[in-house]
Amino acid sequence: MGRIIIIGYMGAGKTTLGKALSRETGMPFYDLDWYIESRMHKTVKELFDAHGEEGFRKIEHNLLHEVAEFEHVIISCGGGTPCFFDNIDYMNQQGETVYLKATPDVLHGHLKMGRTVRPLLLDKTPDEVKAFIHEQLALREPFYAKAKHTLDVNLMDNYEKIKTYV
Ligand code: S3P
Repeated sequence: MGRIIIIGYMGAGKTTLGKALSRETGMPFYDLDWYIESRMHKTVKELFDAHGEEGFRKIEHNLLHEVAEFEHVIISCGGGTPCFFDNIDYMNQQGETVYLKATPDVLHGHLKMGRTVRPLLLDKTPDEVKAFIHEQLALREPFYAKAKHTLDVNLMDNYEKIKTYV
């Protein structure tokens, strides 16, 4: 019955943590962005291009409601998922929500190295990305803070802790 739902900003390591946890516990893992892409037969970028952010958020909301009905699963969400509609309240009803928390500098470092295409960052210079992360994180923090658990991305014992939430 237990469901673990990982949230946090882009680049926090939600997918990496979810995958590793799935390997160790045997619980199936769903990354919401990947689920959206396979259900819609389009990449996240193509969905942003075709429907704008507003259209993407509706699709994300609808498919969150599909994936968070599966039982005994680990789900990692997109960075914006908890911040639209009543998604964070729904997630809290459906499982153990975990906010993977990182500082803007750490997030920026991870995002610089990552290969994932992130439509919200595409048109920005490195300096603009840095400022954007600071501003957007401040706006999103109140939603992330509603998670039942918060884990600091820099702490090595996270992995053991999160297993106790199942
Ligand atoms: C977004 C984060 C992305 C993806 C989309 C929008 C956001 O997921 O859902 O590009 O608004 O923060 P990741 O957090 O997995 O990069």
